[in-house]
Amino acid sequence: MAFYSRVSGSVGVITLQNPPVNALSAAVRQGIVDTMHRALSEPEVKSVVICGQNGKFCGGADIREFGANMRGPPLVPMIHLIEAAEKPVVAAIEGVALGGGLELALGCHYRIAHSKARLGLPEVTLGLLPGAGGTQRLPRLIGVPAALELITTGRHATAAEALQLGIVDEVTDHSAVDAAVKFAQSVAGKSLDARRISTYPRPRSPDLAEIFEKAMKEVRRSARGAIAPVTCVQAVHASVTLPYAKGMERERELFSTLFTSGQAHALQYYFFAQRAVSRWSTPSGARWDTSKPRPVHKAAVIGLGTMGRGISVSLAQAGLSVVAVETQEKQLLEAKQAVSGMLERSAKRRGVPLADDKIKYNCSVQAVADADLVIEAVFEDMALKKTIFQQLSGICKPGTLLCTNTSGLDIDELASQTQSPELVVGMHFFAPAHVMKLLEVVYGPRSSPEALATAMEMGKKMGKVSVAVGNCRGFVGNRMLKPYLEQAFFLLEEGATPEQVDQVLEEFGFAMGVFKVSDLSGLDVGWKVRKADGLVVPGSTGKSARIRGGSRYSPLGDLLCEQGRFGQKTGRGWYQYDKPGGRVAKPDPWLHGFLEEYRARHGLVARRIDHQEMLERCLYALINEGFQILQDGIAAGPEDIDVIYVLGYGWPRHRGGPMFYAGLVGLDKVLERLEHYHQVYPDVLGLKPCSLIRKLAASSSPPIHRWREFIQKPRSQL
Ligand code: CAA
Ligand code: NAI
Repeated sequence: MAFYSRVSGSVGVITLQNPPVNALSAAVRQGIVDTMHRALSEPEVKSVVICGQNGKFCGGADIREFGANMRGPPLVPMIHLIEAAEKPVVAAIEGVALGGGLELALGCHYRIAHSKARLGLPEVTLGLLPGAGGTQRLPRLIGVPAALELITTGRHATAAEALQLGIVDEVTDHSAVDAAVKFAQSVAGKSLDARRISTYPRPRSPDLAEIFEKAMKEVRRSARGAIAPVTCVQAVHASVTLPYAKGMERERELFSTLFTSGQAHALQYYFFAQRAVSRWSTPSGARWDTSKPRPVHKAAVIGLGTMGRGISVSLAQAGLSVVAVETQEKQLLEAKQAVSGMLERSAKRRGVPLADDKIKYNCSVQAVADADLVIEAVFEDMALKKTIFQQLSGICKPGTLLCTNTSGLDIDELASQTQSPELVVGMHFFAPAHVMKLLEVVYGPRSSPEALATAMEMGKKMGKVSVAVGNCRGFVGNRMLKPYLEQAFFLLEEGATPEQVDQVLEEFGFAMGVFKVSDLSGLDVGWKVRKADGLVVPGSTGKSARIRGGSRYSPLGDLLCEQGRFGQKTGRGWYQYDKPGGRVAKPDPWLHGFLEEYRARHGLVARRIDHQEMLERCLYALINEGFQILQDGIAAGPEDIDVIYVLGYGWPRHRGGPMFYAGLVGLDKVLERLEHYHQVYPDVLGLKPCSLIRKLAASSSPPIHRWREFIQKPRSQL
C-alpha cells in the first residue's frame, strides 16, 4: 500500500510500503492512486513527494503477481495521473528505482536521487520490455542511443551516471526524501509545461536509422535467440516514428506479446530460482535458517594454477587475508605475477581499490596453520589430494574448514584423511574462478551443517551464487555433462560432424557447442579422468573397443588425445586453429577423414541425422540425468540444477535451465522421446528414463514448483 503524510504544511508525501523492495503490487498501485487524489484535492498541499519505505524507492512491478489475474489500477493510467497533475510531483529515489519503479519516477516532474541509488529498466532480463511508458519516455528524456543501451541490457546505472545522462535532476549524499521535500517547496506554483516528458518532441537525429540498425544487429548477435532484446529495440523505435499516444499503443502491443511468451516465464522462473538456492536444505534436515556459519577472516589456497589464482583473487576482493601456497619458488613467482595482474585489471574494471596487499605467498604448506578456511586446488589426483588433506589435518588449528576445489572426486574419501571429517566440504569453482558467478558447495555424508553454511556464506561474500549439492561423482554439473557429451560422441560415430552438432546447440542458445567447449577446456582433462577410471584401452579393436561395462562407449575423445590433439592449447582438437592457443575454430578436413576412417573400421554406416534428433538426444540425456540427481537427493530441487546449468554451463537463460525446459516441452513428451531413443539404443544407459520422470509424467506432469513433493527423501546419511 502507500502511506500519506503532510510535511512542512504544504508538501504531501506518498510513501510506498511493500517490503522488501516496495514492488508495485495491486495494493501499492491502489494506494498511489488514492493518495495522489488526496494530495491533489487538499488546497494546502502545493507539491508532492513520492518515496519508498526503508530507504528503497521501488523495485518495479510485483513479479509475483504476473501469473495471476490483473487486479487493481493499471500502471500506465496511474503514471499518467501523476504526470498530468497540476502540482509538482518529485520522486525521492533511495536504494533502487527499477523497471516500473523508474517508469513511475519518469512520470514525476522532478527526480532527486541518493548518491548510492541505482536506476534502470531491467525488464529485458525478465523477458519483457518496460511496459509503463519507459520505452517512450526515456528516449525523449536522454536520447535514443543511451536509452537503447539501458533498455536492451537492463543494466543498473549509478546515481552519478543517471545525473550525467539527465535521468535525475539532483543527487544528494544526505536523505533524498529531505532533499526532495525542500526541492518540492522551491518549485511549488511553477509552470510544469516543460516537465512532462510525454510532451517532449520525438527524438530526432540524422543518423537514427543507422543507430537502430546497429542496435538491432548487436542484440541479434548477443541475444542468442532471446526475443525480448529485439522487441525492446522495436519499442524504442516507435518513440521516434510515432507520436507519444501511438507509441504507447505500440509499447502495449509488444509488451503483451512478450508477457505471455515461454521465454518470459522461463526468465521469471530463473529470477526466483537464483534467489531460492540460498535457502538450502539437505536430506538429513540441515537447513539454511538453522545452521550458523563460522566467521572467516583468513583463508588459504593451496595450488596456484588456473583455478587457485582465480580463487585467491576472489577471496582477496571479498576482503579476506589470503595465504597462497605453491610447491616451488618458480611456480610461486609466476603465480604471484599472474595474480597481481588479475587483481589490477579487476580493480580497474570494477572501480574498487587494489587488493594486492591482502595476499601473502609461500612455498610451505605450514604457512596455512592459522587460516580459518583452506581451499585446496592442486591437480585432479586423488592420491595427491589425500596427502594434502592428511598434512592439513595435522597443521591447521582446530576448527579450520578444509575445502577442495575438485571437479568431481569423492569428498568423503578426502574427509576420511582428516581428524575432523565434519569440517570437510567441496567448494567447486568454475573457470575463470574470479569471473564465473557459480559455486557448487558439496557436502559429504559427514560434513557438518555449520561447515556447509560457512562455505555457502563464503561464496556469497565472494559475489557468487552458491548452490549446495550432495556428494557423488561429478556432483551436479559435471555429472549431467557426461551423458550429454556421450550423446555428442555417438552422433559423430553415426554420421554427424562436430560443426553440425555445435550448430544445433548454438541455435538452441548455448554460447558454444559441446565440441567448441571441449576444445576450449582441453580434451586431455576428460582423458585423464577416463584413464584413471580404467576406461581408456589403447589399441583396442573390434566390438570391445566401443563397449565398457556392458554399455556403449565411444573412444573418439581418447583417440584424438593419443594424436596429441588437446584442443585450442595444441591448435588442434575437434576443430583446427591457426596456432596453438588460437581461438577461432575452423572445420578440419583431417578430422572429417579421421571420422570416416573410424566408422569404416568399426562397420558403422554414416547417416544423415536431422537437427531434432541431435538436439533431443543431447538435451534429453542431460535432463534424464538431472531427474536421476533429484531422485538421488543430490540436488534438493529443480531450481538448484537450473541455476547450476545457466551460471556454470552456458545454458541459455531465456530457456530457464534444463529442468524448467523439460517442463515446458512437456514431461510426457520428454519421456516418450527418451523411451523411443532407448529402444533404438538399448545399450546406452543414459537414455533409459529414470523413475522420477516416469512418476511425474504418470501424475499428469505437475508444475515444476510441485516436483519436490514427488521426490522420495533419500535416507539420511549425515
Ligand atoms: N517483485 C516481487 N518480488 C521482488 C521484486 C519484484 N520486482 N524484486 C525483488 N523481489 C523479492 C525477491 O524475490 C526477494 O524475495 P525473497 O527474499 O523471498 O527471495 C526479495 O525481494 C529481495 O530481493 P533480492 O534478494 O534480490 O534483494 P537485493 O537487495 O539483492 O536486490 C533488487 C534488490 C535489486 C531490487 C533485486 O531484487 C531486483 O533486481 N529485483 C527485480 C527488479 C526488476 O526486475 N524490476 C522490474 C520488474 S518488471 C516491471 O517493472 C515491468 C513493467 O515495466 C510494468
Ligand atoms: P593446474 O594444473 O592449473 O594447477 C594445479 C597447481 O597445483 C599447479 O600450479 C601445481 O604446481 C600446484 N600443486 C601441485 N601440487 C601441489 C602441492 N603439493 N602444494 C601446492 N601446490 C601444488 O590445475 P587447475 O586447472 O587449476 O585445477 C586444480 C583443481 O581444480 C583440480 O582439482 C581441478 O579438477 C579443479 N577444477 C579445475 C577447473 C578448470 O577449469 N581448470 C574447473 C573446476 C575445478
